[in-house]
Amino acid sequence: MNIAVITGASSGMGKEFTTRLITENDARIGAPYDEIWIIARSEDKLISLQKALSPERIRVIPLDLTAPESLSSVSELLSKEKPDIRLLINCAGMGRNGAFSEQSVSDTHNAIALNCDALSSLTNICLPYMTGHKGPNGRSATVINIASSAGFLPQPDFAVYAATKSYVISFSRALSAELKGKGIAVTCICPGPVDTGFIKASKNDPNATFTGIKGKFVTSVDKLIPASLKAAKKGRTMYVHGFSQKLLHVASKILPTSWILFFEK
Ligand SMILES: NC(=O)c1ccc[n+]([C@@H]2O[C@H](COP(=O)([O-])OP(=O)(O)OC[C@H]3O[C@@H](n4cnc5c(N)ncnc54)[C@H](OP(=O)(O)O)[C@@H]3O)[C@@H](O)[C@H]2O)c1
Repeated sequence: MNIAVITGASSGMGKEFTTRLITENDARIGAPYDEIWIIARSEDKLISLQKALSPERIRVIPLDLTAPESLSSVSELLSKEKPDIRLLINCAGMGRNGAFSEQSVSDTHNAIALNCDALSSLTNICLPYMTGHKGPNGRSATVINIASSAGFLPQPDFAVYAATKSYVISFSRALSAELKGKGIAVTCICPGPVDTGFIKASKNDPNATFTGIKGKFVTSVDKLIPASLKAAKKGRTMYVHGFSQKLLHVASKILPTSWILFFEK
């Protein structure tokens, strides 16, 4: 059985990835898939998506990825079904906005557990099931990790989140180099602000929107997800979405960090 696995599929980018992979048959990486396994905590949202798209080909796996037993249950499921994983999209992520000193220990723990630990552990668990198929260009499978332009540089008032996304960038680059010989491509996606539920969750406010300079560069999943899939299909290791974020990426490499922190303030 050929499958794609997508975390964070109950909303935002993960939902859009799932929708596109089901509806755009010819554009899919590693297609055909017999099933797409979708993971998030909100079982009701996952079931609605399954019903709307393909009850036969979408498998709902409701899990809190910060709980260690969730990863064991994925591991057990894989060892029982022994699928050929052609695509893994690590999309689930969270971050708390605001001064670090005002954040709870559990907020800090959850961001690191989800953005770093679950992302790398799930990749670890999936890799043994990713080498069965040789597609075009000798590629057997693809891993897409969703990082953020927040990972390019430290961000006061988003300190833990930005650090976790630096981890995702560094991890993805190293993994990409390690897996090249095995025909597994790794693409790290770095968007700037995107119009999803993310900002509302990170500010714990259902009416929150991006403000200030970030508010000027908000993009939509309609633009981001097709461009991300295209970059992954080409086997690109890094994809920075949008001109403003590309500029920020270059600035983060050439300007002293103290200057950037000064401007951020
Ligand atoms: N939106 C932005 O501005 C932006 C910019 C750059 C990067 N990103 C990154 O893009 C990714 C997708 O975010 P998004 O913008 O699509 O935000 P979103 O709409 O809030 O989606 C986050 C997804 O993660 C899932 N999730 C959260 N906690 C989880 C947990 N403990 N276990 C399992 N799943 C969990 C959520 O589902 P449940 O709540 O149902 O569990 C949801 O499906 C994240 O990694 C985020 O850091 C976002």
